[in-house]
Amino acid sequence: MTLQGPKTQALFERASEAIPYGVNSNFRYWGKEDTLVIERGDGTYVWDADGKRYIDYRLAFGPIILGHAYPAVNQRVQEEIQNGTLFAWTTPLEIQVAERIKRLCQVDKVRLTNTGSEATMHALRIARAYTGREKFISFEGHYHGMVDYFMFSTASASRDALGSRRSPIAARASSGIPLDIRKYMISLPFNDPELLESAVKARWFDIAAIVFEPMMGNCAGIMPKPGYLEQIRALCDEFGIVMLMDEVKTGFRIANGGAQEYFGIQSDLVTYAKSMGNGFPIAAIAGKEEVMMTVEPGAVAHGGTYSGNVVGTAAAVATLDILENEPVIETINRRGQALMTGIDEILAEADIPHVITGVPTMFGVFLGSEQVPHDFRDYTAGDSVLYEEIGMELALRGVLPDSDGREPWFLCYSLSEADVAETLNIFNDAVKAAKS
Ligand SMILES: Cc1ncc(COP(=O)(O)O)c(C=O)c1O
Repeated sequence: MTLQGPKTQALFERASEAIPYGVNSNFRYWGKEDTLVIERGDGTYVWDADGKRYIDYRLAFGPIILGHAYPAVNQRVQEEIQNGTLFAWTTPLEIQVAERIKRLCQVDKVRLTNTGSEATMHALRIARAYTGREKFISFEGHYHGMVDYFMFSTASASRDALGSRRSPIAARASSGIPLDIRKYMISLPFNDPELLESAVKARWFDIAAIVFEPMMGNCAGIMPKPGYLEQIRALCDEFGIVMLMDEVKTGFRIANGGAQEYFGIQSDLVTYAKSMGNGFPIAAIAGKEEVMMTVEPGAVAHGGTYSGNVVGTAAAVATLDILENEPVIETINRRGQALMTGIDEILAEADIPHVITGVPTMFGVFLGSEQVPHDFRDYTAGDSVLYEEIGMELALRGVLPDSDGREPWFLCYSLSEADVAETLNIFNDAVKAAKS
């Protein structure tokens, strides 16, 4: 069985003639016969070119926090673009977005940009400029976008290339990246306080930033151990290092104020994107006054032709307004909790060792072990083959998380209790089918 119906297949063949591998981002490629062509979305559903409906738990890898084609957001964008889209001057919409982020996330200053990768790239430059240092610490299995500096030891890197735990190697996650720049990254397993402390104490004078995802949004939603984020905060304070929390996935999703609110930790710099605009391209770099003011014109470069454009800012104003005024996260949490509990029960019933990781708005399903995973190395010891089999059985039946277990399940405000019940029924069938 393949996922593509006849129309999807014909369109994907056409796509592959014009677009390498038929996709505009490699993460979307599920192979020649299973990569979908989606024609429309509405709320929590998407429909492929054959008209097949899916309950969507990929949600474009996280951005769709309210639902696809969410009327209030689309309407606001349509209204605002009547008056132009790009001026290369400050607009009232940009001011509103920055003010809302300040309020929701308790940051002092905000600069806007368009994608998560741009945000992390600029944030790293700001941290380097602020400290006058060039290296940074980051963690295996964390992802910070398509920036060359960060493309080592992500969850796409080979497990075998990571070296030993005590002496980890920054492993290239892609060809085409100069190996020389690996010298800037000190890559460590996440959640290991001892390794972190000794790395900082040995090299603090070279280290501009500790860059991290507060929970592993690109590796099954693995959570930080209690006290670990506090340790990062304390080490940054003690050694004059910039704490750079990458909230591209967690921001405006795990709480209105993101992971800073959820875990009760304020970072020096924070990056946002995804849920900020409910699927419209918009991102932000935010943080403390002193660090953010490093972007002085003429001193430290930050720019972008499309930064703060009307389309993205209008979408962000509408999305953040709904987040502030409606019980969005609360509702998703309830549905997500029911889903996590239901999946847990089904897997237990089927005698499949597992751990449900993450939080209800973005959770992971780790198979093959009852040991809670704490880092990327733990994750690779799980049964990713079984996960993928269950993922394909789910997709065939119209439930669409990513079939790669590193990608969490994302939920949106439009998901109903009935959708959760339907998902659990299908999950039960998918597990039986995958086991048979
Ligand atoms: C934590 C994190 N940082 C950065 C990025 C890059 O964002 P974008 O794909 O918008 O460039 C991602 C994308 O998934 C991400 O999950």
